[in-house]
Order: sequence, then structure tokens, then C-alpha cells
Amino acid sequence: HAIHLKDYRAPDFRVPEVALDFFLDPQATRVAARMRMVRTGAAGAPLVLNGEALKLVSVAIDGHPLKPDQYTLEPELLTIPDVPDKFILDVVTEIAPADNTLLSGLYTAKGLFCTQCEAEGFRRITYFFDRPDVLAVYTTRIEADKKLYPVLLSNGNLMEKGDLANGKHFAVWNDPFPKPSYLFALVAGDLGVLEDSIVTMSGRTVDLKIFVEHGNEPRATYAMDSLKRAMKWDEEAYGREYDLDIFMIVAVSAFNFGAMENKGLNIFNDRVLLASPETATDDDYARIEGVVAHEYFHNWSGDRITCRDWFQLSLKEGFTVFRDQGFSADMRSKAVKRIEDVRALRLRQFQEDAGPLAHPVQPQSYITIDNFYTSTIYEKGAEVIGMLKTLVGDEAYRKATDLYFSRHDGQAATVEDWVKCFEDATGRDLAQFRLWYRQAGTPTITASGHYDAAKKTYALTLAQALKPTPGQPEKLPMHIPVRLGMVGKSGRALPLTLEGDNAPGPEERVLELTAPQQTFVFTGVEEEPLVSMGRRFSAPAEFRIEQSAADRTHLMAHDPDSFNRWEAGQTAARTAILAMMKGAAPDPLYVAAIGPVLERALDDMAFAANMLSLPLESEIAMAMDVVDPDAIHAARVALIRAVAAAHRGAFDALYGKLSDTAAFSPDAASAGKRALRNAALRFLTAADDGAAADLAARHYRTATNMTDMVAGLAALARMTSPEADKAFAHFHDRFAKNALVLDKWFGLQATSPRADTVERVKALMKDSHYDLKNPNRVRALIGAFSGNQLRFHAADGSGYTLVGDVIRQLDGVNAMVAARMAGAFETWRRFDPARQALMRAELEATLKTPGLSSNMFEVVSKMLA
Ligand code: ARG
Ligand code: ZN
Repeated sequence: HAIHLKDYRAPDFRVPEVALDFFLDPQATRVAARMRMVRTGAAGAPLVLNGEALKLVSVAIDGHPLKPDQYTLEPELLTIPDVPDKFILDVVTEIAPADNTLLSGLYTAKGLFCTQCEAEGFRRITYFFDRPDVLAVYTTRIEADKKLYPVLLSNGNLMEKGDLANGKHFAVWNDPFPKPSYLFALVAGDLGVLEDSIVTMSGRTVDLKIFVEHGNEPRATYAMDSLKRAMKWDEEAYGREYDLDIFMIVAVSAFNFGAMENKGLNIFNDRVLLASPETATDDDYARIEGVVAHEYFHNWSGDRITCRDWFQLSLKEGFTVFRDQGFSADMRSKAVKRIEDVRALRLRQFQEDAGPLAHPVQPQSYITIDNFYTSTIYEKGAEVIGMLKTLVGDEAYRKATDLYFSRHDGQAATVEDWVKCFEDATGRDLAQFRLWYRQAGTPTITASGHYDAAKKTYALTLAQALKPTPGQPEKLPMHIPVRLGMVGKSGRALPLTLEGDNAPGPEERVLELTAPQQTFVFTGVEEEPLVSMGRRFSAPAEFRIEQSAADRTHLMAHDPDSFNRWEAGQTAARTAILAMMKGAAPDPLYVAAIGPVLERALDDMAFAANMLSLPLESEIAMAMDVVDPDAIHAARVALIRAVAAAHRGAFDALYGKLSDTAAFSPDAASAGKRALRNAALRFLTAADDGAAADLAARHYRTATNMTDMVAGLAALARMTSPEADKAFAHFHDRFAKNALVLDKWFGLQATSPRADTVERVKALMKDSHYDLKNPNRVRALIGAFSGNQLRFHAADGSGYTLVGDVIRQLDGVNAMVAARMAGAFETWRRFDPARQALMRAELEATLKTPGLSSNMFEVVSKMLA
């Protein structure tokens, strides 16, 4: 059954303090919880606590044990009808962490105890108000076998530790900052540690510790370095200082998502923490830097200020994503970071917004909150904050966030509180802007212009439209910042002087579109301009403007905004590919426009690599009414081959010039160089013939780092050749002991366009390293395969059956991960009737599966609705 935002009620009790006592055992862990309760709601209201998969051992009030007739126990609730206004509640539960395949609550992984409590995992540890608006000070005592679990960690500061009889020991931690239960964490195991420290802006020394499997300490140095840079950046960019004396991170191998911001004790999927040149690609390094920063930034945007309820999830996630994006942009290239973020947004969030699972940044209802850790909450939520910043300006933005942090420190806040801070700090009326939180869907902004050569005026009309989404048949016009510039035929930027301005305008400005349609008249326009619209992607919208192939390639070369140079190239390539699917030849203007890109490639190599990266097959699919995966693949490959043939010499020269001899460094410039050389490799191997296989194999063999190895393998993965088999076998043997690297081996085969990919994925599911209980393995193979548009959508339905079978089986093991994987079918209505029928059959079979989880029920029933 669904939970609605409109039904929110404040809790009936406060819980100022919680003391937890853990007696760790994989099969039978005992948890003794003592909670101080203070009534804040209606007199006489019963005490109703959440609990799930718990064995209740005892319950007592003020030291008096309750008899079974003094409480009622339902599968997910403990109700005590008769309680005083102030009392101490003692609850003892027993749990089996080793059997916890859902990886929510307390579980074991490779001999390590760890927790994941967001969103509703704490109720799988003890009975509690497992909701984010109940904030308590936690004291945690952990008792365990000293040999097996020498390291005992929880939130806050270590108060005490010591040895006990029978080879046991204990530790007591106290976290002085009141927090909701979802931020609770515990870790116990035999771990190595990398240690460092930092002095904060007020001069306090903070100890930094990263715990990893023994032997992996050197692979945590990049994460440590990222953490120190993130801590410094948050002081400078947002005035946020760390508050405890110690900050810890633990890497675990079985984890449902990326990482978790538990107060003072972040827990990470080791995939986004461990890196070395031999095992991590440049993308891995960048991801580690971003996720370490993200979780650290949550200390203020999430922990110090948390969410009142889960409908406010984007309050912490959207904001924290925006913060980590800003950090990465400052550490690397702003333009390249923006391109990557926009690409990811379009790929996942636009897809979500256009399908059956579309929901607003602030949803109004859910069945399972775990299904709402979505790209809309995270990435679109971040875009909404970016628009606020664009509208109010950098200085006012900082004033507003300062106000937010001081006004709501220690509180469980709402999205409305956040917007109000912007209104109060800047004096702007954001009533219409709030629609970005309420209305789902991606707006379309259509521009049309009229140039009057005699009057030297240019009238630009912007119209906005927003299609209905599930549950929202009618939409209101939004408040949209449209950043633009105008480029002359000669390539120069034209000043943007609006009618009524008394001085010549700037070369770039932000227009505010608030009505369904608005016309902006520019004066003193000396020549007919080309409009460069939506610069740096000033809104999560689809910007449409009618431009010829010549206009686009002109902007591709001359737009002063590098983001829009890239955007013009993407639009030109996509348009060319769509035309080729209808029989056209490769667009000669686009093919020629790659020439100047190659000539200037060395000026900004990471950017050039992006210019050379054609829209992905799924990005092209988004521009089609009925997706034809085979035709998209064929046309895209043909365009790559046309570009390769036209510029063979230049690609050759670039590839040769960029060959790397220097010692490996993960910095942005070195990564950019590798990215550009590997982009050249893509074109040089475009023919997929014997010579291509030889080059790719040589690239693989001579690689001195994982980025280049993967690039060689990715090229070989397209080919059926002994060279390919040899390289994949070599890679497998060399990294047989490194699960994270083997994940790349799984993924590269699963994303191959080869005709036998379905069969190979099936065979790989029998590989001894594949494990349905480990989310990383399943995502590496099955998740990657379902993103393989060509083969997942094989016309015979074999790809659908493969993924359908996995998600039905996985649902009984880990429903959270299974429901997320079911998203593979989200776009099913966008295909031809035959494929639709095949996908619908998988969804229906899933819905009929006995014992289906509510996670899976929610996503599948919504997809079928
Ligand atoms: N708060 C975590 C983060 O974004 C993610 C937690 C995801 N939880 C979930 N149930 N899906 O850093
Ligand atoms: Zn987060």
C-alpha cells in the first residue's frame, strides 16, 4: 500500500537518547536497545515501533518486563498500547546477519559485519521509530570475538575499549550529534587501515581513517587524497567545517549501491573506493573522487541537516550531488565535467521522465522508498539547484546556502524550508520556480527567430511545453533560465542588447522564460545571428531550434561556449545518423567538421575526446518514435567508419603522438591524453577487420594502465577473432583474484555488439566468479547487458528472457537490487509491437511470481499501468 506526503504526521514521541549493545555473532546477534522516550503527541497515544525480520527476545518499560498480553506484535510493527509520558524502553532482539541477503540492516560480507540503514534498514536491527524526523544521540557498545573482529567501529568518538573473557573484546562509541536512525552504522572485522589527518579552518586536527581488507591499504590512497581535498573545498566553497575529531570510511565488497554517509563512519562499496593504476581506469578514479566527496559533503547536507520524511529525499541528495559536481568541476575541467553530467542526465533521467516511472523531484507517494533513489531525485534534483544558482547569481546563492545551514542546523527539514531560504536571502519570488519540485517530465523549449536586416533587430520567440506524465495530466508553465549567446556568420560573438537596454548588452545572458510563449527582441544586431541556446545546459530541458547542418557545424567550430560546441556536434551527429537510417549517406558536413576538431585536439584533450564521442545508441533511440535498435546500431557504426575513412591520417598521427611513456598519474590532464588517444583508437579500429584486431591487441598488450587495457579490450569485444579470445583469456587469468577487475571483464563481454552475446552472457552466469548474492557481480554482467541496446533488444526476445529470469530469481535474494534491474524494461512501450509483446510478457510473468517483493511489485505494476 502507498504512503502519501499529504498524510505526514509528526511523531508522538521524542527519543533524546538511544543506547545499543551488540553481541555479534553471524547467525545470532543479540541487540539490547535502551531508549529514553518522551511523549510529544496526543496523551494516551500508543507506542508504535517499526521492526522487520526481528526475533523479539524481551521488552521492558522502566525496568519492568512486559508480558505478551501487554503488547502486540505484527510482522512489521510492535505496539504497546499503554505507556507513560516519559519512560525508558528496553528491547532485546536477535538477528541473523549471515542470512541477510537483502544487505539492509546488519549483514556480513566476507567475514565482516556491516550495516546499511538508509532508508529503512535500522528496523531490521531493533524496534524503533525508523523515520528520519526522530533524532537521537547514540551510544553504541559492540562486543565480539577479538581474533575474528579486531576492529569494532560505530558513529562518533571512541569512548572506551577493552578485553573480555573467552577471547572477546568490546568498544563503546558515542555520537554527540543527534541523528535519525538511517545514519546509524556499525562495522566489525579484521581490517587494515590507512591513516592521515587534516587541520580544519578553525585549527582543529581531525584524524582520517580508511579501513580496507588487509593488503589493500595502498589502493585507498587516492580516496584519502580525495577526502582531504573535499574537506578543504567544502570549507572554501560553502564555509562548512567538519565537526567530529575523527572521520572514518570503510570499504565493503557487498553493497547495494555506491556508498553511505553514516555520521562519522561512511561505508563504501569497494568499487568506488579502491584504485591503483593496474586495476582502475581513469573513470574509476574520477568516480572515487566524486563519491568520496559526495558522502563527505553529506555531513552537512544530510547529517547536520537531515530530511523530515522521505518525500524530502532530494533535499539532501539533489543538493549533495550539486555540491559534488561543483567539487569535481573545480578539481578537473568544468566544461568536460558538465558534458559528462549532462550526458548521464539525458541517458537516465530523461529516460525516466519520459516513461512509466516518471515522478517529480518531490514525489507525492510511494510504496517502497528504496525505489525512489532515482536519477530524478539525485541528478534532476541537482539541476534544479543549478537553476536556482543561475537565477540568483553566485553571491546570492552562497548567502542562501549560509542561511539554510544556520537556520536548519540540527533539524529534519523540508524542500519548502530550502526554497524559503532562497526567497529570504535574495528577496526573489520563487512561487513558480517551485513547480520544478512538483511537476514531473522534461520540458521542451522551442525557439524560433526572425531577423530584420533593415532594422537590425532579431526577435527570438521561446515556447515551452511539458507533456503529461503518470498522475499529472495537466501541467503549468515553468520558470526556466535559458542561457544563450548569438554567433555571427563570421564566427564572432554578437552583443545581446534587449529592446529598452540603454547600453550594448553582454555576449551571453540568461533569459527567464515563465510564460508558455515569450518573445525577446534584440537590437543593434549587425548580421543575421545563429542562436546558441541552453549554454552549459541551463535547464534540464530539451532545447529545440531549427538549424541546418551547416549552422550546426558552424557552431561546432565557432561557438565561444565549449559546452555548446559539443552540443552542436552531438546534434549534428544524431541528425546524420537518423537520416542514414532512412537511406541517406553520411552527412559530408559533419564528417568534414571532424577535421578542425582533430587539428585543435591537443589544445584540450579531454574536451576533444568528448567531441569525438558520438551519441550513444540509447541517446539516438530517444529521438525516435519507434526505436529500431538494429538500424540505430548499423547507422552509427557506418558514421564512425565514414569519419574514420575521411581522417585516417590525422587519427594515425594523433594516436602515434599521444603514446604514453611517462609514469602513470591519474590527474585530469593525463587522463585527458589517454581519453583522446583511446578515442583515436576507436576510429582506427572502426573496420573491425583483421588489421583492426591486430591494432587493438597491440594496444591491449602494450598498455601500462587499466584505462588503456580496457580500451583495447573494448575494441576487441566488438570483433570475432582469435586475438579477441586470447586477450580476454589473458585478462581473466591475470586478474582472477581481483573481483573488481573481473567485473570489467564481465561487463565488456555483456556490452558487446557480437551476435552471440546472449549466449556468452548465459555462459558467464556459470562462471565461478559470478554470484547472484553480490550486487557488483550482477550489475557487472546483467546490468551491463541490459544497457546493451542492440542485444538486450534482440528481436527473438532472448535478451528479455535472460534478464527477466534473473530479476525474478534475484527478487527472492535481494529485492532492492532486483527492482532496480527491472528498470531495463522501463522503455518497453517505445519499441515495435513484436518487441513490446515480448517485454510485456516478461513483466507479466514477473508480476505473477509467487512471493513477489513490494519493491518489485511497485516498479513492475507501474510499468504495466
Ligand atoms: N544516501 C546514499 C547516498 O546517496 C545512498 C543510499 C541509498 N539507499 C537506498 N535505499 N537506495 O550517498
Ligand atoms: Zn547521497
